[in-house]
Amino acid sequence: MHRRARRLALALLLLARTALADEHPLYREVTPSPDGSGIVYMGRETATVMGFAGASWLERPERRSEERPELLIAALDLKPGMQVADIGAGSGYYSWRIAERVAPSGGVLAVDVQPGMIAVLDREMKKRNATNVKAVLGTTTDPRLPPGTVDLALMVDVYHEFDHPREMLDGIARSLKPGGRIVFVEYRAEDFTVPISPHHKMTEAQVRREAAAAGLVWQRTVETLPWQHVVVFTKP
Ligand SMILES: C[S@@+](CC[C@H](N)C(=O)[O-])C[C@H]1O[C@@H](n2cnc3c(N)ncnc32)[C@H](O)[C@@H]1O
Repeated sequence: MHRRARRLALALLLLARTALADEHPLYREVTPSPDGSGIVYMGRETATVMGFAGASWLERPERRSEERPELLIAALDLKPGMQVADIGAGSGYYSWRIAERVAPSGGVLAVDVQPGMIAVLDREMKKRNATNVKAVLGTTTDPRLPPGTVDLALMVDVYHEFDHPREMLDGIARSLKPGGRIVFVEYRAEDFTVPISPHHKMTEAQVRREAAAAGLVWQRTVETLPWQHVVVFTKP
């Protein structure tokens, strides 16, 4: 009888927990906005994923003046020998630039979820002879990076597209070495003159809220780029 009562109490506790999880889910669904996924996380609707057919937009010549990639590279404190994960690498616009700075003993793991985008990346890296860039096909919940191996994880114009941001940040944090950094580069939502659609931009405050919820510790925010925040975190 006593054992039965304990079993019943345990079942009730499990039921209550499930009900609570349903009441406070991590993600909520809404009718999608024109550039949104319909998935809401921490008050923000995540954005649609840029298809690989749009890869040429990532390689547009005017990007050099719009984004000043050399300023981002300078802000990253890259050193030869570092292992860098370029998450949502796309065509590898930043992968080869980073690979040059960490060579010869360092390298870049270029993660993307679209096999079509990985094919574009492989072609671009071959063109540039970037032999220390390795493509990784991730999933939307797992970047598939080896644990404890990464000095710096970079996300340029991609975090807002994650449909499972918490799982992705947990996976990225697991891949970091002690003292490793995670860097978010997002178009400034605070600035209406930045000509990017609303769900593909983020405020610095929202980036910091979401990173803190995943247990990351803010280190600094760099505001030297024309259109983007560079927000740097470490794993405690
Ligand atoms: C707007 S592009 C940016 C590409 C690159 N970072 C750049 O700045 O040129 C976003 C990329 O992130 C990828 N992506 C979206 N969700 C992802 C996820 N959960 N894991 C890895 N890549 C993802 C998309 O497939 C796309 O190639």
